[in-house]
Amino acid sequence: MDEQRRHYYLDALGVTRWQLRDAPQPAVAPAQPALDPEPHREAPPPPLPRAEPAPQAVATPASSQAEKPDWRALREQVRNCRRCGLREGCTQTVFGVGDTQARLLVIGEAPGADEDRQGEPFVGRAGQLLNAMLLAMGFQREEVFIANIVKCRPPNNRDPRAEEALSCEPYLMRQIELIQPRVILAVGRIAAQNLLKSDLAVGKMRGRVHSLGEARIPLVVTYHPAYLLRTPEHKGRAWQDLQMALSQLRESV
Ligand code: URA
Repeated sequence: MDEQRRHYYLDALGVTRWQLRDAPQPAVAPAQPALDPEPHREAPPPPLPRAEPAPQAVATPASSQAEKPDWRALREQVRNCRRCGLREGCTQTVFGVGDTQARLLVIGEAPGADEDRQGEPFVGRAGQLLNAMLLAMGFQREEVFIANIVKCRPPNNRDPRAEEALSCEPYLMRQIELIQPRVILAVGRIAAQNLLKSDLAVGKMRGRVHSLGEARIPLVVTYHPAYLLRTPEHKGRAWQDLQMALSQLRESV
């Protein structure tokens, strides 16, 4: 990867690039706070180059295609689900969004207030940071699939309970079965613990490639974007995780 591109990705992730005071100035644009979801008045960053190798050959967003019967049926099941009490307290189910043939599947925790209102995962501040993380990997949001452990917003944004996650699990497993992603990126403790059936902290689960289910889908754990908003000093570690996911994707080409 050339230096300019590497800088661009690091800037997009919000990782501070340190430079020796006496070092010659690079001929690249200064760091852009592209991962900062706060609106800013600076000039927008130049178009992002794609990561190498292009991890996604199919670029047609699912929304522009007629939905396949399997997906329609699953969407309907989720919409009508009453397997746990969460549906009582939420506005609508949040099924998931993106390319149904994506090579990368991102799994978060649960819809929050914004997601509950809009019916789409990761549309709030954490979602903006997730989008920037994906861009840093070379993906547009539409090129991956994004889902959550539970499809209904827990009251007051509390963590989903174990039994709620279990009730919702068949829907997520069916989504995984239909998508057949090459890599799963589990963002945050709730996603990682439920998928890996573990009670370890994220810090103990990240840094290696796990595998999920009989299909042994490579699974990489990283910090939740909401956590990264509160703890920006861990963005560098998150970038390492994203690179690990990217190298898994490259291996699976
Ligand atoms: N956090 C999540 O884990 N999922 C969302 O959809 C939004 C915020």
